[in-house]
Amino acid sequence: MTHTMPKVFIFLLAMLGLFLWVGYTITELSGGGGEKSSAAIDISPEGGETIYWGKGRCFTCHSVGGQGSAVRGPNHGQFGEKFPLPMGARAVERAKVRSEKTGETFTAEDYMVESLASPGAYVVEGYKNEMAVVYAPPISLSLKEIKAVVAYLMAQGGDLDMETIDTNPSEVTAQFYAKISAAAAAGGGDPGLGIIVFEDNCAECHLLNGEGGEIGPDLTGIAGKGLKFISASTLEPAKAITKGFETYVVIDNTGRQTVGLKTGDEPSEILITKANGDEVTVAKSDIKSITVDKNKSVMPDDLSEAMTVKDFQDLLSFLMLQKAALQETSEGTEDNQ
Ligand code: HEC
Ligand code: HEC
Repeated sequence: MTHTMPKVFIFLLAMLGLFLWVGYTITELSGGGGEKSSAAIDISPEGGETIYWGKGRCFTCHSVGGQGSAVRGPNHGQFGEKFPLPMGARAVERAKVRSEKTGETFTAEDYMVESLASPGAYVVEGYKNEMAVVYAPPISLSLKEIKAVVAYLMAQGGDLDMETIDTNPSEVTAQFYAKISAAAAAGGGDPGLGIIVFEDNCAECHLLNGEGGEIGPDLTGIAGKGLKFISASTLEPAKAITKGFETYVVIDNTGRQTVGLKTGDEPSEILITKANGDEVTVAKSDIKSITVDKNKSVMPDDLSEAMTVKDFQDLLSFLMLQKAALQETSEGTEDNQ
């Protein structure tokens, strides 16, 4: 049923999405917060420094040498035994690894730009794949701001070449730039394509504005939970299992195992709904053991593997628009953010 959703409906949703997105962007721009839109930023190491320690929020996960205290991501300076090379010089080494892996020739700039454009493409050893997509909400850097940050990082012990960064990028970098500006233009992804990704990968289990399957939680209004939550729930469902959607493992007296959500509990039997939607009734008298597996979600953890980074971005940007439906009918809580 989910695949036959009328095109008109998809179109309406996309239009609604676009409408909301514009509203959201305008709120952001006029929102008068501390982080001003950075029209004044130069594409230079100094401009990048301002972004790094400000709007870009890089400092919330990274430090530069002894500057800053965040350790969630690699230090971008030279720091102790773990970081013998500052980022500009380190990028040369990383570029070699990327060239070997991809078969394309990566320069230090290419590596630096890739680490921002497609953070998951190369995950630094010892760290998790949790580098922020800095051109998507909530950080939403523009291409110009990203170039400035690249200049700042290349200036950390690397060969800083402003022309390569700004006006005359390599082919590899040019592709990443194209991706960033396309995504940034749509707020970090294209919600109109995101709905298709959702239809193909998620709708069979999740309700959204009254449409879809009912195996997982209703995702109507999910944007209220924030980009980080949505992204983490999609990539690593088992990490924080939604209350009431725990994974039950039932073994009956014949040794047969049934895994799924407990969707019914009668005096004499329980109902288990499996990930594929099949419902299995098990008589309580037949149950040998029933346990909750905290390390496994009924939601598959390999969904993102079938998606490109672009698909995932599009999906996120679509889901980040899903606050409206709730707020249209409630008292417009959006104003007081
Ligand atoms: C939510 C935390 C977080 C934020 C915010 C963040 N990063 Fe990262 N970053 C990471 C993590 C974790 C890694 C290591 C995993 C990986 O390679 O993807 C990383 C890796 C990197 C690398 C590769 C480092 C290396 O040693 O090769 C670069 C470059 C980088 N980040 C730049 C930035 C910049 C610039 C910003 C701000 C515009 C930023 N990051 C914001 C978490 C973050
Ligand atoms: C096979 C069914 C299934 C599919 C397919 C599926 N999910 Fe889920 N999803 C679940 C279940 C069950 C839960 C609750 C358990 C948990 O939190 O892991 C869940 C939880 C979630 C949550 C947390 C909701 C909340 O309010 O706590 C989000 C967000 C989510 N899924 C997004 C997605 C997205 C995006 C996709 C598509 C890429 C997707 N899901 C595909 C079954 C599914």
